Amino acid sequence: MKGFIFDLDGVIVSTDGLHYLAWKQMADKEGIYFDEEINNRLRGVSRMASLEIVLERASRQYAEEEKVALATYKNDVYRELLKNLTPKDILPGVTEVLEGLRARGYKLAIGSSSKNTPAILKYIGLEGFFDAVSDGNNITHSKPDPEVFIKAAAFLDLPCEQCYVVEDAKAGVDAGKAGGFITIAVGDACGYEKSDYSIRHFEEILTIAK
Ligand code: BG6
Ligand code: MG
Repeated sequence: MKGFIFDLDGVIVSTDGLHYLAWKQMADKEGIYFDEEINNRLRGVSRMASLEIVLERASRQYAEEEKVALATYKNDVYRELLKNLTPKDILPGVTEVLEGLRARGYKLAIGSSSKNTPAILKYIGLEGFFDAVSDGNNITHSKPDPEVFIKAAAFLDLPCEQCYVVEDAKAGVDAGKAGGFITIAVGDACGYEKSDYSIRHFEEILTIAK
């Protein structure tokens, strides 16, 4: 094994709460019911696919242009909230694991559905840290499609079978398995039976990677 591909939201940094606030503001404006349970279904899902899930509770149909406007509204609110992120928001154990893996010679990449990946990495002080970044800006198919991870492995110049994928979304674990990666499930996905490994503490990655 030579590489590690990390999902960003919910793996490196917790942005669930910020996504929730932004979707809630959009939903309230439209008079659409939205709660944390619905927010949990948006994990790993692209922005437009997330909007479709939010609109399941709408009392009317929305035209394509209206959908684009709603997604833009949500993203504008979200981008403002992201400005509050700092390196302190990096999740426990992440910095130690990244440094430990690098010291062992692993190549490190991000594989995220988010088009806001560059901004998030900048705010948490990890801009330029990873050997490759594959995100919502370079894919046409969102997780559970493996495209984002396959591109990350290609950017690292490694075969998929030689890379671990670390994910907090079941859709992300499915994407990793579909691409032929070894998956490590954390957070919300911990315990997902399709994953090769499940961990409760991020530091356990250093035991798996040896
Ligand atoms: C994923 C998040 O990482 O990115 C999803 O888990 C989000 O909740 C998706 O919808 C797309 O994010 P963005 O920043 O491009 O709207
Ligand atoms: Mg995630």
